[in-house]
Amino acid sequence: MYGIDTNMTSERTNTAFRSASAPLFSRRLPQHQQALDRCVVRLRETLAIDGLRNPKIGRADFSWTYCGASDWVMGFRAGQLWLAYQLSGDAAFANSAAARKAALNAILQTKAYQDHDLGFQFSLSCVAEWVMTGNMHARDMALRAADALRARFDPSGNYIQAWSPVSPTTPERSHFVSGRIIADSMENLPLLYWAWRETANADFKYVADAHAATVARHIVRPDGSSFHCFIFDPVTGQPLRGETHQGYSHTSCWSRGQAWLIHGFAQCYLYTGEAWFLDTARLLAAKAEQFLGDKKVPPWDYCLPAEVEAFRDSSAGAITAAGVYLIASACSDENEAERWRGLADRLMEGLLEQCDLTTHAEAHGFLDHGASYVHAGLTRAMLPYGDYYFMEALMRSLGHNQFFW
Ligand code: GLY
Repeated sequence: MYGIDTNMTSERTNTAFRSASAPLFSRRLPQHQQALDRCVVRLRETLAIDGLRNPKIGRADFSWTYCGASDWVMGFRAGQLWLAYQLSGDAAFANSAAARKAALNAILQTKAYQDHDLGFQFSLSCVAEWVMTGNMHARDMALRAADALRARFDPSGNYIQAWSPVSPTTPERSHFVSGRIIADSMENLPLLYWAWRETANADFKYVADAHAATVARHIVRPDGSSFHCFIFDPVTGQPLRGETHQGYSHTSCWSRGQAWLIHGFAQCYLYTGEAWFLDTARLLAAKAEQFLGDKKVPPWDYCLPAEVEAFRDSSAGAITAAGVYLIASACSDENEAERWRGLADRLMEGLLEQCDLTTHAEAHGFLDHGASYVHAGLTRAMLPYGDYYFMEALMRSLGHNQFFW
């Protein structure tokens, strides 16, 4: 295993065996550094408790329930572990992350397990392992996942379909998923851009660019708010209507969807250098800032009527903060960068003041108050993606710039 047996790596100098990475620049934010240190300690403490199980959603006692064979959140624990390895150089994190490939391999071998979330699943696990160790098997798995994601592209409507029918015997599900795209998809595109860079096969970029353009046209509204979903005629590709699935209503703005879009468009900019991607991320972030008003943690939906309970969604806060730091890092104008860092810092303040569990000795995760799916009664829990983006945001805030997207 890492640090003991290097047979798993080949054909590339293994940069990860160097000592822990240092940030590119240093902001004097001891609260962020201390919180990040606590995340690494928490991960070390829970290695033996969680084993190779991947957290799905927190229980009321702040322990975890775990993913089944094909859950979209399967990669977030691996992502946390690779970040912890990067920060600490501790091989225990790398070994635990790398050993999760067996479960991911089952997704590659089982078409029924696959949907557009191959990006979430494989960027933070297999791409991360390739980046950190040069493991060719991890690279190969990530490329196979990218191929499967690219194959979901529908050229008639220029989109990657989000979800899959469960089986031919569930016609309602087939009707529901057909022609549907969702905001979350923007975080799956980095796998395609990575595959394009890795192989020089322009098809990967073509599909990612085309899907992003479709999302910008139909999911992002002109005022910078967003639909969660958009529906196309699956036969003709004709655009039909915006909808929601996890937000309050078809015309509201689900805060985690807005967060996926902010982070996703900023990532597209980093890969392509095309200015319109950054402009779209700016538009979405400015709208989130306006929606937030004086709040520091987003409500689960930004457009709730007064009579509906405004559960906080710490995951939306963490994803938005990571995305806004990313925007700041892409700005050439220092005043503009400072403005975005100010917004992200405020979101982090909210998470640290209202949701931080890293100081709570009994908790197995990092953040309370994640609203995974309010319509299903899932209004307050630890979430592995909230935790992953909390780490990413803390690292971006402190000047780190190696991530696996
Ligand atoms: N990608 C699903 C969610 O954000 O809940």
